[in-house]
Amino acid sequence: MTKSALITGISGQDGAYLARLLLDKGYDVWGFQPRRSTDTLWRLREVQAEDDVRLINGDLTDLSSVLRAVEKSRPDEVYNLGAQSFVGSSWDQPLLTGQATGIGAVNVLEAVRLAAPEARFYQASTSEMFGLIQAERQDENTPFYPRSPYGVAKLYAHWMTVNYRESFGLHTSSGILFNHESPLRGLEFVTRKVTDAVARIKLGLQNELRLGNLDAQRDWGFAGDYVDAMWRMLQQPQGGDYVIATGRTVSVRRFCELAFSHVGLNYEDYVKVDPAFYRPAEVDILLGNPAKAQRVLGWQATTALEDLVAMMLETDLARVQRGARN
Ligand code: GDD
Repeated sequence: MTKSALITGISGQDGAYLARLLLDKGYDVWGFQPRRSTDTLWRLREVQAEDDVRLINGDLTDLSSVLRAVEKSRPDEVYNLGAQSFVGSSWDQPLLTGQATGIGAVNVLEAVRLAAPEARFYQASTSEMFGLIQAERQDENTPFYPRSPYGVAKLYAHWMTVNYRESFGLHTSSGILFNHESPLRGLEFVTRKVTDAVARIKLGLQNELRLGNLDAQRDWGFAGDYVDAMWRMLQQPQGGDYVIATGRTVSVRRFCELAFSHVGLNYEDYVKVDPAFYRPAEVDILLGNPAKAQRVLGWQATTALEDLVAMMLETDLARVQRGARN
């Protein structure tokens, strides 16, 4: 029998890659997303999934709309990827972030409990929950210490995911994903901001790049690899929590060096530090230990950062050349 999957946040980077993966596996794919006047479907178009997914309009903060989406899609699997996901904005919009990123996840859990208790549930948790790190390499047993309203909201959603597993016996999993990037990343995130700027600078359309903290270090993987881990979690006999990471950490400065040198430029000639991009509290370094995912899920990251940078840059060079807006 054909399986049905419901993805919240289907118009985001991970939503697009996950939709493609599930369509390739023969799932009926339903997407839940707010109605917007701007073009939110460009990512689904890029993965050639736009015509094959069924979209339901609604908002994570509106339980009735989430409930209707669950009733309509009759899902075997529910992936909660929707959120206010930009850490930087979460200080400007702490309450909205709490509603969408925190309460929104509980709305989906409630809708599953009420309308599809047999469905398996995936929560997009994050390495931002580790924040001020309590261990050199973070794994499923490392204590959390979030450093942004976004991280705090995600931590609430994470514990509610665990709680619904323990309270109601639901099949819920929490994927603690470290940063994951791709050509489908939004321009507000640092990796895509850099690759887009490098393409513009190379093609003579821009002459500098203003960034915040160049010393922050992140464990950056490829989003296409990471959505496969989500799916694997829901194929396990029981729900669980998994760290998904590459196990290598690199600074923003080094990322710039790699990106500029890919087109034969020196980042020091173009990158300017602008305190406007500093955050009120910073997560200085993240480094994941994905040993459990490898052992239990048979998953590991397969894309090296150098290849990811090349993939993002080649895509952005082509986009800038043809005048694309995303
Ligand atoms: N966005 C941005 N813009 N970040 C900058 C800039 C800049 O101009 N300059 C330096 N940075 C630094 C940030 O201070 C941060 O330390 C690092 O680059 C990464 O920033 P982002 O790319 O915005 O990602 P993030 O780590 O804050 O959050 C992302 O990863 C999380 C997983 O750890 C997001 O995808 C979250 O949704 C996700 O949960």
